[in-house]
Amino acid sequence: MQAWLCDNPIGVEALRWSELPTPAPAPSQVRIAIHAASLNFPDLLTVQNKYQVKPPLPFVPGSEFSGTVEALGAEVRGLKVGDRVATIGVTGGFATHACVDAAAVMPLPPGFDLDDAAGFAFTYGTSHHALIDRAGLRRGETVLVLGAAGGVGSAAVQIAKAAGTRVIAATSNDEKCEFCRGLGADSTINTGRDNLREALKLATDGKGPDVICDPVGGELAEAAFRSIAWRGRYLVIGFAAGPIPALPWNLPLLKGASIVGVFWGDFVRREPKAFRQSLAELFGWYAEGKVKPSIDSRLPMSAIGQAYARMASREVRGKLLLVN
Ligand SMILES: NC(=O)c1ccc[n+]([C@@H]2O[C@H](COP(=O)([O-])OP(=O)(O)OC[C@H]3O[C@@H](n4cnc5c(N)ncnc54)[C@H](OP(=O)(O)O)[C@@H]3O)[C@@H](O)[C@H]2O)c1
Repeated sequence: MQAWLCDNPIGVEALRWSELPTPAPAPSQVRIAIHAASLNFPDLLTVQNKYQVKPPLPFVPGSEFSGTVEALGAEVRGLKVGDRVATIGVTGGFATHACVDAAAVMPLPPGFDLDDAAGFAFTYGTSHHALIDRAGLRRGETVLVLGAAGGVGSAAVQIAKAAGTRVIAATSNDEKCEFCRGLGADSTINTGRDNLREALKLATDGKGPDVICDPVGGELAEAAFRSIAWRGRYLVIGFAAGPIPALPWNLPLLKGASIVGVFWGDFVRREPKAFRQSLAELFGWYAEGKVKPSIDSRLPMSAIGQAYARMASREVRGKLLLVN
């Protein structure tokens, strides 16, 4: 097998495309022939030693991928060679093959495209847990999605629409705004040009959004929170912009609003039954055509430098795939 190996986590430039012995799966594992892996923001942080989980060296980055089961460990039940599957974790995806614990493998429903499966569970799972579970989104509410053209953001736009809400997509340029309208957003705000507070006042008749979905953080967070509606819910998902915002505590008091933390990885670990229900609803919505990842680009697995550069420079719209 071949894999991008990280033995010096100083950035993507230190990754090496390496020939490795193809591993036999341990008793509880399956070996997957990888079809495609998607790039998620944490993949960027992991190879820079900046992510909260620090894998032991050397490791193969790549937190989400799809493929076909090629070999089974002796104790594995319920999966067979040839099954089409996807999996999420922290490592392993930027390679031709990976051995994964069978418990972490998601068999794909018939008709679920392998490209889509490589870029689905991480972002759609996060946004579904955030909006439906943590915010308790109700039909007819208004949702503001920040970073709406990114992976988590684009999933949030589609999920909020599937849940019967009105969606305002905020993103940093006109091309991304147009992309978000294509995803189903009812209106957009160009945060690179418009004043967020003024634009939100106009878009909501002064009421403000009921729910704010924020995978970006940074300087827009406080302005967004100041615009939130009475009894609003502000979803803290990530800090792609870098700085972690700090908020004066009088603001949630004045709005009767909640700041709601979202940690999807721990939700998956701590609440496996709720996670399976969330995934089942998403698979159902996928079958009905209500959600579908928008593939930004399909690059060969060898083009990892180009893929990381595209994400770091905020060019990715939807999901970027590395394909074998
Ligand atoms: N809490 C959880 O459970 C959970 C789960 C998954 C992901 N996350 C986090 O969510 C965040 C977004 O992940 P993602 O996969 O959606 O990333 P992504 O596809 O790269 O999207 C991130 C968006 O953030 C905006 N952004 C603003 N400043 C940026 C900067 N300096 N560098 C890069 N992007 C910047 C960009 O939108 P504009 O150009 O429109 O501003 C970009 O589209 C990450 O911090 C990730 O770690 C959290």
